[in-house]
Amino acid sequence: MVLFRNGLINQESYWRVLNRQVILGLFHGSCKKIVVLQDKNLSLLHSSIDKAFFFNLLLSIAVQLNMNRPLVAPSLLAADFANLQRDLELINQSEADYLHFDVMDGEFVPNISFGFPILEAVQKHCQKPLDVHLMIVNPDRYLDAFAEGGASVIHVHYEACTHLHRTLSHIRELGCQAGVALNPHTPVDGLEDVLEQIDVVLVMSVNPGFGGQSFIPHTLRKVAKLKQLVLANRSSALIEVDGGVGLNNASALLDAGADVLVAGNSVFKAHDPLEAIRQLKHSRQPLTA
Ligand code: DX5
Ligand code: ZN
Repeated sequence: MVLFRNGLINQESYWRVLNRQVILGLFHGSCKKIVVLQDKNLSLLHSSIDKAFFFNLLLSIAVQLNMNRPLVAPSLLAADFANLQRDLELINQSEADYLHFDVMDGEFVPNISFGFPILEAVQKHCQKPLDVHLMIVNPDRYLDAFAEGGASVIHVHYEACTHLHRTLSHIRELGCQAGVALNPHTPVDGLEDVLEQIDVVLVMSVNPGFGGQSFIPHTLRKVAKLKQLVLANRSSALIEVDGGVGLNNASALLDAGADVLVAGNSVFKAHDPLEAIRQLKHSRQPLTA
């Protein structure tokens, strides 16, 4: 069901395909109208709708179909650091939407990755927005520096923040999108009271700290539960999944409600990374299948 207010698609909209039909509930002013569109020929079964509004509806569907493509964020952690510029130029040419930048401090996670000098080098060559994932204790100390370093999205870990509401508000004040990452053991329910402050929830589908780990299957149920929470609260937060993501599970994740796919090894270790990104970008099952 897709809900429109005054004919415009909004963040609360979502699709559900039932019996090969797309059922659209339209709320236009005070007048509620229901239209059923056949999936193939888009035949209109309701006759009382006015023409201008119908064209507006078709336009909105086109926008939604385009928006329906997942966002893809290749993870720099799996790149070849001896050829960093080459790998960044590859990402620039690709259909990727972000570059995922994993920061590990050896304390929150049992590994150390990279920090500001690499961020500066990446900024020189990368044309994609940076999706910064802070796997560090006390992330508040570094938010300003990452914002100044060019981050578009900053994810802090739920488990590392004592005053999450304040931290998220600060990320937004810095002009970045506010993300909250959840370790595999952290339930989604704890987010309900801060959903208004969240732009993206980063669901960890491995225990953070290393690339190339196996996807934890329970993540599918967790994403579905989070999607319900997001819809129930009329939140516009996106759902991003990180760890062991590839073509083998992308479609199931998108069906469960994921919007953004982080992919390290499945992109950079692929025979053809550009093609791997393209396939992830097009991995959603077609609506008419
Ligand atoms: C893991 C990192 C991930 C990692 C994903 O702690 O947060 O972003 O780079 O790598 P893959 O896709 O190889 O599991
Ligand atoms: Zn990550």
